[in-house]
Amino acid sequence: MAASREMLSSVINLVGLLAIVCFLYDNFRSLFSILKAVLEPYFRPQLPHNLADKFGKWAVITGGSDGIGKGYAKELAKRGLNVVIISHMREELIATAKEIENLYKTEVKCIVADFSKGKEVYEHIKKELLDIPVGILVNNVGYAASPDKFYNRSEDFLWNIININVGAVTLMSRIVIPQMKQQGRGAIVNIASGLALQPTPLWAVYAATKSYVRSLSLAMERELFEYNVTVQCVIPSFVLTKFIHFSELLSRGKLFGTPVEKYTRSLVFTLGKTQQTTGYWRHAIICFIAKLFPEWLRSRTLHIFTDYIRKESLKNLIKEKEN
Ligand SMILES: NC(=O)c1ccc[n+]([C@@H]2O[C@H](COP(=O)([O-])OP(=O)(O)OC[C@H]3O[C@@H](n4cnc5c(N)ncnc54)[C@H](OP(=O)(O)O)[C@@H]3O)[C@@H](O)[C@H]2O)c1
Repeated sequence: MAASREMLSSVINLVGLLAIVCFLYDNFRSLFSILKAVLEPYFRPQLPHNLADKFGKWAVITGGSDGIGKGYAKELAKRGLNVVIISHMREELIATAKEIENLYKTEVKCIVADFSKGKEVYEHIKKELLDIPVGILVNNVGYAASPDKFYNRSEDFLWNIININVGAVTLMSRIVIPQMKQQGRGAIVNIASGLALQPTPLWAVYAATKSYVRSLSLAMERELFEYNVTVQCVIPSFVLTKFIHFSELLSRGKLFGTPVEKYTRSLVFTLGKTQQTTGYWRHAIICFIAKLFPEWLRSRTLHIFTDYIRKESLKNLIKEKEN
């Protein structure tokens, strides 16, 4: 009896130890990869270490006219890369292109495309990219709107969000991968979200599309590893862009919202160093703490939060209408 109790206790200890090791490995793997990559130039100076030498001179950024995409494009241009920015509003796109060209004296090409249109936009994008050796693709474009029940959304809204958040990342990757395989190098960065880590009531479809992005990225990373093509999945918390304009609470930055320049500077630093990142140390702490709790609890807590944001944005909407 005593022997079997001892054995049971050893098994429980072993399972506990294994769970702790797995948790720590999962959470600190990215940090170790970054440290390893930072030290690599000292031990292997013969390898290419700047982004243009490592992946190629041209980068394509979807949703590159504003927010994280614009910040990312500026960071790459600052490092000497030429950029192609894709977005749907011609004037804003051209203004961003001029701003980047003036600041960093690199080439900037614009492609006007509305990803919500689905299949029809990709032939045009393919033609525009024909002569460009794409080294880095940043699948950044995304759409959410303020929280609401999934079944209250219009059919058009649902198709838009699927086309933008799921269609664009899949089809844009499909366009550049053959070229990257042929070049024997490249990087694909997919911007998901912290909401990809659990179901999120009232942002149900958005969170589900971002889970898709995360799953696709991790699988693609394995498929492309042998061709020296890096795939990075990014899971940000809140970044202060117009994406969250519907909520004063989020926009004021009280909930760990990060200014976009600060965020993209840190995010670009991780490119080629780690396959999965939150992009910024504060987001990593939020993610670490959140993962200590089971998925169902995170999901229920988020429900309280999204319900608050929903009520807040409704109040703002009423106020705007009254003024
Ligand atoms: N901001 C956050 O807190 C946060 C958190 C987690 C994840 N993310 C993810 O990060 C990514 C970027 O978000 P963001 O905050 O930078 O958003 P943002 O400020 O709203 O910028 C989105 C960009 O995408 C473009 N765009 C929007 N709809 C488009 C369409 N149908 N076709 C082509 N281009 C379109 C926008 O162009 P226009 O300016 O012309 O509309 C803009 O350039 C998204 O995938 C989002 O899900 C953001």
